[in-house]
This record gives sequence, C-alpha cells and structure tokens, in this order.
Amino acid sequence: MPYTVPKLKDFSLASLNKAAEKLLAALEKEAAAAKDDASWKEFRDRWMARKDGILTSINEWLKSAPKESKRDVGQSVNQLKAAVEHTVEAAQQRLQNRAGELRLTAERVDITLPGIRRPVGAEHPVIKTINEMVSVFRNLGYSVAEGPVIESDYYNFESLNFPPNHPARDTQDTLFIARQESKPLRERLLLRTHTSPVQIRTMEKMKPPLRIVIPGTVHRNDPPDASHSPMFHQIEGLAVDTNITFSDLKGTLDHAMKMFFGSSVKTSFRPSFFPFTEPSAEMMVSCFICGGSGKRTGVGSVAGTIREEPCRPCKQTGWIEILGCGMVDPNVFGFVKDNGYDPKKVSGFAFGMGADRIAILKYGVDDIQLFFNGDVRFLRQFGASR
Ligand code: DAH
Repeated sequence: MPYTVPKLKDFSLASLNKAAEKLLAALEKEAAAAKDDASWKEFRDRWMARKDGILTSINEWLKSAPKESKRDVGQSVNQLKAAVEHTVEAAQQRLQNRAGELRLTAERVDITLPGIRRPVGAEHPVIKTINEMVSVFRNLGYSVAEGPVIESDYYNFESLNFPPNHPARDTQDTLFIARQESKPLRERLLLRTHTSPVQIRTMEKMKPPLRIVIPGTVHRNDPPDASHSPMFHQIEGLAVDTNITFSDLKGTLDHAMKMFFGSSVKTSFRPSFFPFTEPSAEMMVSCFICGGSGKRTGVGSVAGTIREEPCRPCKQTGWIEILGCGMVDPNVFGFVKDNGYDPKKVSGFAFGMGADRIAILKYGVDDIQLFFNGDVRFLRQFGASR
C-alpha cells in the first residue's frame, strides 16, 4: 500500500514523532525506487505538487492541532518539508550522476590499444607529371583548357584536316561508339584518340590571341602491353597570334623542356607529318638518363669496379622522342575562320605529348600497365615517406 498522510488525533510529541518517522520511511523508500527521469517526476509530484502533494496534505496536521500543540506540530511540519525537498533533489542528483557514469563507460577509450593508421594519399605519378608540365606552361602565360573524352568525328578528325576516308585516320586506331550508322559521319561519336580536338573547341569559343595547354585522357584500340595502354594521357598545346613563327615554337618548347627535365637537356627537331600542322616535326630531347652519351655506368660485378652498359631508354642514341608539333595548318583555321582565325592574318603552333611515356622515362618504370592496375605496392613508392 502506498503511503498516505494519516489524520492525527493525538498531538503528543511521541505520536508526532511516530507519524514523522513513518512519513520519512516512506519518503526514503520511494526516493530509492525512482529509476529514471519519468519515475522521478512522478515521485516529485506525489510529494511536492502544490495542490494535492503529500507536503500540502500534512498542513492538515497543523490546522487540526489544538492551540497548545501548534508550535510542536509547526516545527515538525517544517522539518518534514525540508527533508522532503532535500530528498527529492538528492534523488534527481543521483539519477544524473548515474547517467553521466554510464556515458563515460560507453565512451571510454582504451588508450593502450594501437592506433588506426590512416595512410596519406599521394598524387598518381602520371597526374603529377601532367601537373608539373602544365605548370611549366602556365608560367609562360598559357591557360588550361579541357574537352570531352567522348568526341564527335568532326572534332576528332574532320576539323583537324583528316577528311573522311583519308589514310591519315589509320594512324590512330579508333574506338567508335557502336550503332551510329544512321548518323552523318561527322556526328558519330568515338573516344577521342588525342587531345587535339580541344584546339578547335577552344578556338570556337575564344578569339585570338590564344595560348592554351590541354591535359586529358585519350583512348586507342591498342592491346595493352608494356608500352601500350588503350587509355592514356596527353598534354596538348596551342598558341595563336599574329606573326607566330617556327622559331617561337622551337624557343617555347626548348625552354619548357629545360624547365621540366633540367637546364642541361638539349632539343632537336626532325621533319614529320600530322594533318593539322604544316610543317610538322617531332621533337627529341637529349637523353636525361645518360646525358646524351648513349651509355650508362653501373656497378661492376667485382667490388669497386664500374661497368659501362648501353642506355636502354634512348636505345643508345642519346635522344628521346618526346612530342609531335608543327605550325597550325591554314585548313584548320579555315574551320574557325568566323571567330577571328583568318589564316591570312593569324598563325600559330601546336604540340602534343604523351604524359604516361614521359612519366615512364622520368621515374624509370618499365611497364605502363603498372600505372593503371591500381597495385598500392607500386603506387605507394610515389607517396610521401611514411
Ligand atoms: N595529336 C597527335 C597525336 O596524338 C599529337 C600532336 C602532334 C599534337 C602534333 C599536336 C601537334 O598538336 O601539333 O599523335
């Protein structure tokens, strides 16, 4: 039976004390039973509610007490009030402390356990090469342009002076998107085989003068092997202005190669062919591995001896072919004539290089596949030291 406040008839001290004891015993018992916020509130209201709480009810004792007992009863009631208030508050405190302890236990960290190691990522060697090369050209005032990887026949070939059925198209084994036979040839989609289409795309949007570098992914139908990948990366460049000459091309590229590979490299140009440049050239840099001698020195089999061996990256020639380049063919300007590229008024040079090939040479990697098959043991070697 829950405690209820009795009516007092006998107001002697002994009887008052007895009633007080009973009340306090009930108070302690109920305080101990409050286990959560809700039951504590119920407990508080039962004892302290202004209207019909137990504290209010014991005022009846005072009212019904005869005059000569009022002082004793008043003192007793006051003490009981203080006791009730204190106990209710203490019960709440106890609950709060318990909740805090539970939280602490739940959130406890065992600082003796080994930590979780979060490996620091790193730039992929090909991306790093691209970024370094792009920044060389940015320092020369070039801006960066980009274009779509899925490209139309028009931008990838036709506007770059590869007419339909021209044999020059055979030099780039192209991956076409299937089932487009019903479209006119120039609208058919393919995976761009080079970054050169971004030359035309940018000239359609921006008037001359123009200086851009174009990094990006390209695809060709080449089976993967140590030096081929159906997906690879190119860095393209284009400069258009009035009176741009072949000397500008040579001076720019020579400077860029010295910035990238080191000031001792030399450049050399030899004639070549690309449909979109006339004249066209291939540029070689002196081998930055053997210094141009075609030979490398290695450690001999007998301690202390030095062995001379042929330099493989340059195939002992002392030169490494790095890029294709040339003066923009007037026919190419013809496709963007309406945007200020009158071939009689402007001239320009262009170049394109394979970023993966440069990364292979720079880092001495012997298989291009290593760049793309995602083995962290390979990639980790390019990360910050751990
Ligand atoms: N697009 C050529 C290729 O992928 C590379 C190239 C050669 C780009 C000469 C140029 C250039 O801009 O002028 O083989």
